[in-house]
Formats: sequence, structure tokens, C-alpha cells
Amino acid sequence: MMTDFISIQEAMNKGSGEVSIRGWVYRERGSNNIKFVVLRDSSNILQCVIKKDDFSDDKFQEAVSVQIEASMEITGTIKKDERAPTGYELSVKEFKIIGASDTFPITKDQSPEFLLDKRHLWLRSRKMTAILKVRSTYIQARDEIFRNEGFYRFDAPILQPSQCEGGSTLFEVKYYKEKTYLSQSWQLYAEAGVFALEKIYNMGPTFRAEKSKTSRHLSEFWMAEMEAAWFDLKDVTEFAKKEIKYCMKKVCEERIEDLKLLGRDSQKLLEIANKEWPTMKYREALKILKEKSKINISFGKDLRTIEEDELMKHFNTPVVVTHYPKEVMAFYKPKDPKNPDEALCFDMLAPEGYGEIIGGSKRSTDVKEMTDELRKQGESVENYDWYFDLRKYGSVPHSGYGVGVERVVAWLCGLNNIKDAIPFPRTMLRWKP
Ligand code: 4AD
Ligand code: MG
Repeated sequence: MMTDFISIQEAMNKGSGEVSIRGWVYRERGSNNIKFVVLRDSSNILQCVIKKDDFSDDKFQEAVSVQIEASMEITGTIKKDERAPTGYELSVKEFKIIGASDTFPITKDQSPEFLLDKRHLWLRSRKMTAILKVRSTYIQARDEIFRNEGFYRFDAPILQPSQCEGGSTLFEVKYYKEKTYLSQSWQLYAEAGVFALEKIYNMGPTFRAEKSKTSRHLSEFWMAEMEAAWFDLKDVTEFAKKEIKYCMKKVCEERIEDLKLLGRDSQKLLEIANKEWPTMKYREALKILKEKSKINISFGKDLRTIEEDELMKHFNTPVVVTHYPKEVMAFYKPKDPKNPDEALCFDMLAPEGYGEIIGGSKRSTDVKEMTDELRKQGESVENYDWYFDLRKYGSVPHSGYGVGVERVVAWLCGLNNIKDAIPFPRTMLRWKP
């Protein structure tokens, strides 16, 4: 009977003749003698018309009873029809209901919280489908550039004995009779990996017990990191730009329709990707804030969200800010020998209020300084003995960074909350479904 299914997009590309498609009912309406079913699959939606005259009474009743999200196989003749939602209509010859659907709980104009409660079903929405495709393309593009550049994939443990980015956001995990923590970063292990593989990358689940409820923070997110031996700060900031630009271009080429559905103009994003992205020192950023935004920040403080947003009002591309004050930076970020109050580190800030998308640095080789800093933070320094070993046996300059995957996806898709950039978000207040 019905075989050789093609996707809805392929059917529309074909444009005429007989096709067999399968998917889920996106919309349905009907009268006594005609039933309209808009069918959805992962590629697109298509209006299908079932006419009473073409079927037995019983069979037509089956069509009448079809509810939103029922799954179906349909064969019919496709033709252009300007009135149909996607410009084509399928005149149904045969249909089969594969899985009937109860009354679908998601109707129009639901609150964001309700949609998060029903996330397992809301994933099917056109919006979520478009975002998930952008995310997939972005991640594939990133894999591509690292492979093209001769990097090896290297995986670190998720359960780790100590912190990388400060104890206050660690998630503690019971580990047999001991305790351990969920990874805050792949970095410290990557610093062991570079002495074998030199250029490495990964992408993995990352955990931060963030106490703030912002549109930019998740408790579980995916960080896309890289680490390279012999790289200094300039090498990594330039590589970071290259990486993001490459991925943006891929997304703009391959996801035009999805971006459009999300209200994003791929052409405009492409223009951003083709521009020069500035690099400036933190001290210069303070100057811009003072002169253009009338905001006075004294050296020695990290930039807060409001200050980042204010700074980025003056730019329409990402900006790399380097040399943050050493005293507020993580223990592994080294002093700049030329200006010891500055660290050899950087953040990349996205435009349009999306904030920090990358954090990275050169790595310190000063064991004494790192030990002092960890002690100051109340850490058990013995937990880092293995890490300090790396500085003892033929250490070389090395640097790396981590990209917040959801932050980039949120920016590329123009989302107003990071929660939509990941299938099942985890925040301080949400860990279900
Ligand atoms: O700046 P962060 O904390 O840097 C590190 O963890 C380094 N160890 C990475 C490295 O050098 N290999 O985090 C990196 C990026 C941030 O710029 C941000 O984009 C994202 O990870 N990020 C978060 N994204 C979502 N929710 C959170 N709670 C995040 N915390 C960080
Ligand atoms: Mg950071």
C-alpha cells in the first residue's frame, strides 16, 4: 500500500503528482463533507484535503475524528495553492491514522511556565523545531571547524573532585562514601590533555548552581571548550572569532527558513559575521563606559550584566574584552607580566543584549600564586596536586576558552530567554520534566 514516503519539504519541492508523506496533525478543521488536515513533519507543514466523496462513510468518519497531534500516513496529489499555509495543497487519496491523539493540552496563547511544564510536547512546536535545528547546525559547524583545524576531541570527567570556576556554584554529588561535584568546566582536565594532543576541543554538559534567575543563566548548560598548547592570549582571541564567524556563516546558509520563522534575518547575521570584530582591553571598555554612557566603574571590578549591556549598545558586532582585573579572576588566569594588576584573559560579548558568550584565558604557570589564591578561597590545595604536576613536567604556554552553547543559540535565534535554546532547561526553579 503506502510505501516510499518522502518528507513534506521534498513533496513541496516536487510540486506536482502523487506523493506519500507522514507526520503529525498540526491543525485540523472541517465541515460535513470536507476535512482539512495540516500535516507536520520535521521538514515543514502541508495542507491536506480529505473529501467525503472520495471515501466510504466509515473512512471519512475516521478523518473527521482526527485530533491535533495524531500521527498519520497520507498519499495524494500535490499541487500549488496560494491559499494554503505553505503554498501547496495535497488532495488525499489514501490515509491511515497511525496513532490517535487525545485532546492536545497546548492551545494558543499559553503562559511560558505552562509551556515549560509541557516541554516534552512543546518541543513539537514550529518555534522549538526551528531553534533545535539551528542548534544542531551550529554544533555540527563547530565540530567541522575544529576538525578542519587539526584539533582532537578530548573528553573530561563530569564528576570532579574540585572547582574550576569558584566554589559557590558547585553542585555536590554523593559519591559512594565520599562527595564529588558536577563539572563546572572541562578546562583543568584539558590542560592535562594538551600535553598529549596539543590541540583539543569538546562539548559537554556543564553545571552551575546559579542563584540568580536571569534570562541568561541555566543550572545545566552545554559548554563548547577548546585548549591549545603554545597558544597565547592573542592566538585564542583570534581563534574564538574565527570559530564563531564560521559557525554563524554555516547557520545563515543552512537555516535561512528557520531563522525567518524565528523573526531573524539571516542576511543581517551574515553581515555581522563578515565584519571585523573589535578587541579591546578592559581598561578601554571602562573608558567607553565613562565617555559614552556616563558610567563610572573603578578598575578592580568585574563587569556586571548591566555594564556589559551598556557597553554593547555602542557596538553591533561581538566584542572581545581582554585584561580584566587579576584580583577578581579565577585562580588559573595569569597576571600580565607587563601590568600585574591585569590578567591575560578575555570574554567575548555578543551584541543586542546577549552578553558574555565566551570566557577564556592563557593559563598560569605560577604554582605558588595559584596555590595562594586557592587557599584564600578556602580550597583543599591537595585536590589540585595533579593539576600542579602539569606545571612540573615540561610545561608550555597554553590557552583556551569555553563557549556557552545556549547563549550563542539564543543570540543567533533572537530568543528573549536562554531556556528556549536547550530542549529541557534546568534552572534554580525548574528541573522537570
Ligand atoms: O566564563 P566561564 O565561566 O569560563 C569557564 O568556565 C572557563 N573554564 C572556560 C575555559 O576557559 N575553557 O564560562 C564560559 C562560558 C560563558 O562565557 C558563558 O557563555 C557560558 O559559558 N556560561 C553559561 N551559560 C549558561 N548558563 C550559565 N549558568 C553559564 N555560565 C557560563
Ligand atoms: Mg565568564
